[in-house]
This record gives sequence, C-alpha cells and structure tokens, in this order.
Amino acid sequence: MIASSDFEIFLATAPGLESVLCEEARARRFKGATAVQGGVTVMGGWPEVWRANLEIRGASRILARIAEFRAMHLAQLDKRARKVDWAGFLRRDMPFQVEASCRKSRIYHQGAAAQRVATAIRDQLGAPISPEAEISVKVRIDDDLCTISVDTSGALLHKRGHKEAVAKAPMRENLAALFLRQCGYDGAESVVDPMCGSGTFVIEAAEIAAGLKPGRSRRFAFEQLASFDAAAWQRLREKGGAARPAGALRFYGSDHDAGAIRMSRANAARAGVAEMTEFRQHAIADLLAPDGPPGLVMVNPPYGARIGDRKQLMPLYRALGQTLRARFAGWRVGLVTTDASLAQATGLPFGPPAGPVSHGGLRVMLFLTRALP
Ligand SMILES: C[S@@+](CC[C@H](N)C(=O)[O-])C[C@H]1O[C@@H](n2cnc3c(N)ncnc32)[C@H](O)[C@@H]1O
Repeated sequence: MIASSDFEIFLATAPGLESVLCEEARARRFKGATAVQGGVTVMGGWPEVWRANLEIRGASRILARIAEFRAMHLAQLDKRARKVDWAGFLRRDMPFQVEASCRKSRIYHQGAAAQRVATAIRDQLGAPISPEAEISVKVRIDDDLCTISVDTSGALLHKRGHKEAVAKAPMRENLAALFLRQCGYDGAESVVDPMCGSGTFVIEAAEIAAGLKPGRSRRFAFEQLASFDAAAWQRLREKGGAARPAGALRFYGSDHDAGAIRMSRANAARAGVAEMTEFRQHAIADLLAPDGPPGLVMVNPPYGARIGDRKQLMPLYRALGQTLRARFAGWRVGLVTTDASLAQATGLPFGPPAGPVSHGGLRVMLFLTRALP
C-alpha cells in the first residue's frame, strides 16, 4: 500500500509531450516530477492534487494513485481490493465507476477485473455503481502489478470552461500550452496566430501572460471525493487568482473565416482576456507584423489528413512562409503540422522537429525557427 500522507500523483498528457509537461510541473514547484510514458508523476497529498488540476496547463487529467499490489488471478485481485480503505477516498453517497486495463498479465479480462474491484468497493462502502458516474476508479494491471487510481479531474482538463464555440480541427488547450512552452514562450512576449480558428493559441498565451489559472472557471471530480475540503479549496483558488496586468503586451489572431473570428472573440471574452487580444478577419496574404518588439508566431495550418489533401495545401504553406519571411524579421515561428514536406514548403529555417505527438488520432510535429533574419 502507498503511504497515506504523500502519494503518487499522475499528470496524464499526450504521448510525445511528457518532458515538456515535466518542465511545467517543476516550474510550478511540484515535488519529485518525473516524466514517464504518457505523463508525469509527482508526489504530494490532496492539496497538491487540487493545485495540479487548478494550475497545470499541459495535463489532460490528474490521477491520484491510491493502492498498488500484485494480483496473479481474479480471486487475488478481489481479496486485495477488499483490503483497500475505500472510505478514505470515496463517499458512500456518490456513484462511481471502475475502468480496467490489462497488459502482459495473467489477468487479461479487463471487464472481469473492473467488475471485481467495483463489487469490492460497493460491498465495503455501499456506494452505487453507475456507468455515468463522474468519479472513475482506474485499475491498471501491468506485468501482474495492479495499480489503482482515482481520476480527480472529471471532464478532460483541456476543457477550461470558457470555450463554447469551436472551429474545425481545434487545438486542445493543454497541447497548445505545451507547444507554446516548447517554443520558449514564458508570457513575456507577444504571440500572433495567423490561422487562429477558435483562438486557442492566442487565448492560452494571453492567460499565461496574465497569470490566470487554467482551472479557475470549472469544477472537478475531486469535489465529490471523501478528502475534499471546500474551504481549503476556496482559499487555494483565491490565492493569487486575480489577473496581473500584462503591460503593453498584446496577443493577435487572424483567420480568413468570419465565423472563426466571431468564435475567437467570444471565447476570449469568456476567458477574461478580451482586452489583451485582437482578432481580425483576413487571409494570410494580408498579415502584417504588429507594432512593438518581435515575439512568437504560433500556428497550426490545416492538416493534410483532415481538411483537404496535401498537394492542395502546398500553396497555402508556401504563402504563409513567404509572408512571414518578408514581414516578420526578428520573430520566432512555431508551426504544428502532420507533414514535414508541408513545413518545408514554407521555406522557413526550421530546426529538426519535436514530436511526434498524438493529437486526435493524428501524429503532429512542432517545427520551430530561431528569430527570423
Ligand atoms: C487547423 S485550423 C486552426 C485551429 C486553431 N489552432 C484552433 O485551435 O481552433 C486552421 C485554420 O486556418 C484557417 N485558414 C485556412 N486558410 C487560410 C488562409 N489562407 N488565411 C487565413 N486563415 C486560413 C482556417 O479557417 C482554420 O481556422
């Protein structure tokens, strides 16, 4: 069993971005941050679980590890699951569900494993099992080692609670934040996205500059756990919660689609960054560098796999490259795409790409330049 005071907290993210998330966890002073397959582990208690949900931008969900034991067969899983102090984690009055995954283990039937653990919890606690429950207990059996965690986030963390309108192929907020970090963005420079869709990069960048916590507007599954302390959570949310002035910094989005611009403006207003952001409807060819010191151009143009085919997209990538090379001297460019030949078509001086990162069934890569000559 894991000690009851500090336990392992798992910050899940898209495979390929673990080391970037690990940097973020360290920067936010989480203890023992270690990059592992599919995420980052840190050590802490429930206040760190709440803080991770509230402050970490790059995670998709936060799991609290509550038990770990060997299980060679289902009867053993059943017996050991009944020894876990479920009342220390779950509430009798809150429905829960159990999901299981098995890998390289004698127990191979995921459904049966989930059912054994669910029954053990129900028998000990009397809490109702429901497939719609927000509280989800995750059982992972790997090499006969069973790890039990509770998902403390609920809805995935890229859902910040501000975006009602989404464009086609939107970038998830947590990935956008990690790509910005990978480009060296720290909230102290302007960001321009000339194909902004629903405005994800621009809004994330503005929030980072303003010191806004990504989870400030939403609820979390941990609010339904036995360990939840509403007063302590309220204090944590209020700590340093107000936006800090970002000075003269501005964040710019443009797109040739009028609907995208409407959406971006509405999303920025809901996120509380309308004053720091400017969205304009125009095509790439009409893009000009804003006044002020150079910063970062961050863009994910249409991908070959999703919207139209690669050959058709070459002229668009070429036009993007031409505009940036001609008008954005001193700016760095971060470009997220599925295809190295499309990135190459821009003629921009990219270093070797980072990634690939799994994103909505696609494998995307980040291409980054130094300051353009
Ligand atoms: C993959 S989406 C970007 C998604 C965006 N990052 C988000 O999170 O919503 C690509 C965007 O490029 C825009 N676009 C395509 N061709 C364009 C052009 N010639 N000029 C400006 N925008 C263009 C599309 O309207 C679309 O919104």
